Amino acid sequence: MTRLDRVEQTPGRLAGPPLTPRTAVIWSVLRAELERRPDALTVLDVGGGTGGFAVPLAQAGHRVTVVDASPDALAALTRRAAEAGVAERVRAVQGDGDALAGLVEPGSADLVLCHAVLEVVDDPAAVVAALAAALRPGGAASVLVAGRAAAVLGRAMNGHLDVAAALAADPAGTAGSRDTLRRRYDADGAAALLGAAGLVVEEIHGVRVLADLLPAAVADGQPAALVELERALAARAPWRDLAAQLHLFARRP
Ligand SMILES: C[S@@+](CC[C@H](N)C(=O)[O-])C[C@H]1O[C@@H](n2cnc3c(N)ncnc32)[C@H](O)[C@@H]1O
Repeated sequence: MTRLDRVEQTPGRLAGPPLTPRTAVIWSVLRAELERRPDALTVLDVGGGTGGFAVPLAQAGHRVTVVDASPDALAALTRRAAEAGVAERVRAVQGDGDALAGLVEPGSADLVLCHAVLEVVDDPAAVVAALAAALRPGGAASVLVAGRAAAVLGRAMNGHLDVAAALAADPAGTAGSRDTLRRRYDADGAAALLGAAGLVVEEIHGVRVLADLLPAAVADGQPAALVELERALAARAPWRDLAAQLHLFARRP
């Protein structure tokens, strides 16, 4: 039985977030941290968008600040928090992740989320340093980045062999100026980025190992089986490293 299996079988305070191939593994890791720390936590979600993680965390009793560059995303977050009855526990701050250091009080957060953001900011090392500085000693960071290997496989399987070759050869893992992302990571590179900011990486999981490769009829037709399989493969080589995204859970010593 893996750690994820044990966590999923343990009812926690965090009831309710929808478990999809995109979220199940991340929630398993977060739930383990929340169960370890029974108090209401101060959470910072950088690039938290419309609140897919922030609102369930607020529903579980935690105080969440979402910093995001998009006013539209923050408006949707505010509506969603109000509809969920947790508006008083969700704070929306418009701001650039690259300027995070000036937006957040140092040493104030128990948990920092930074999901699908480091691929698009100007200076990921500076953002990670600001995430680390925002954490209290002992606080944890949940970081989700785009996986490089999956992008190469995905382009190749769709017949775009030239794009796959460009992606594989590019040091940043992008396919040139038309790529929507500025960089992608492998597990070692992402861990090194967090380590350079003084964070200690405790766990790395693959997110969407299979989900993006399956025909829609399979993914849509067997959602529970797919979530189970994703969880079973998430921590295991070679599957983890082929995932569309890599989830790193790290701690400030
Ligand atoms: C792909 S979405 C991810 C949303 C959410 N974290 C999730 O995983 O569902 C990226 C989010 O980052 C925000 N974003 C992009 N660039 C940013 C920046 N430089 N600073 C802050 N937020 C940024 C976008 O507005 C968007 O809400």
